[in-house]
Amino acid sequence: MGLAAACGLPRTAEAEEPFDSLPPAVPRNARRNGLVMIHHPAPASLASRARIVSTAEPGEPLEVAGQVFAPNGSTPVPGLTVYAYNTDAQGYYGENRTAYPPRLYGWMKTDAAGRFELPTIHPRPYPGMQVPPHVHFSF
Ligand SMILES: [Fe+2]
Repeated sequence: MGLAAACGLPRTAEAEEPFDSLPPAVPRNARRNGLVMIHHPAPASLASRARIVSTAEPGEPLEVAGQVFAPNGSTPVPGLTVYAYNTDAQGYYGENRTAYPPRLYGWMKTDAAGRFELPTIHPRPYPGMQVPPHVHFSF
């Protein structure tokens, strides 16, 4: 099953509930991705650093670090919940070469300077697709 199929899941009222508060301008496919790709609810206790892979995970280690700023572009945003996920060394998100839910994911909360860290592996492209490897973030 490809990722496009993941975006085509039928919408159900109970599944939509965690994302009902998203503004109408958020694209419908982003809402659908939220349903299947974001593990929720977020854990009650979050740190600014979340290792999302074990040391035994195949793949090249990748250290992702970020800093979140307010719309003015200069004021750091502390205490913001960050969710991230990426594909494994074979280009799959889910267990056993499935598209979802993501196996390599983590939750963080930005520190006093708005920073977060995500030790992971270099994601691989989706098999058979021309999509560059990437890490997904939701704030
Ligand atoms: Fe992706």
